[in-house]
Amino acid sequence: MIKVLFVCLGNICRSPMSEFVFKQMVKERELSSQFEIASAATDGYNEMCHAGIHHGTRHMLTTMHVPFEEHYSRRICSNDYAYFDYILGMDDSNIEDIQSIIGLDTEHKIHRLLDFTDNPRNIKDPWYTGNFEETYWDIIEGCDAFLKKVIDQ
Ligand code: 4NP
Repeated sequence: MIKVLFVCLGNICRSPMSEFVFKQMVKERELSSQFEIASAATDGYNEMCHAGIHHGTRHMLTTMHVPFEEHYSRRICSNDYAYFDYILGMDDSNIEDIQSIIGLDTEHKIHRLLDFTDNPRNIKDPWYTGNFEETYWDIIEGCDAFLKKVIDQ
């Protein structure tokens, strides 16, 4: 079982989009039984507010026929480091925040999602840009490259 945790600042836009896109990708390849896939926030504010998936992410997933379930923001905790095999942040700031919560990445589990692609970069936060479509295509690119990497191992 390969355990993957997608992480962003609020766990209402980018990381739940990644969670459900990746769940669909592995399902299409009949690999669902080999993966456990979840998402979390670096910031605790949305967990405190019991915030669900942002309407922009819901709209994009619905438009692209990606199934999703109800999801509430939860903050990453130090136990997640032992549990998950891959902890995938969306941008440099997420990576810094994850490291400050988790401590030293001794097992090299923490990565930026688009670092698996030929064009490593941050995934911009649609909470600020409003461009959920750009986020979606970045996430497709990152998840596709990540899945190829884990399958090839
Ligand atoms: P996300 O976007 O990290 O992609 O979920 C954000 C969601 C909420 C906030 C910031 C970014 N916020 O400030 O509440």
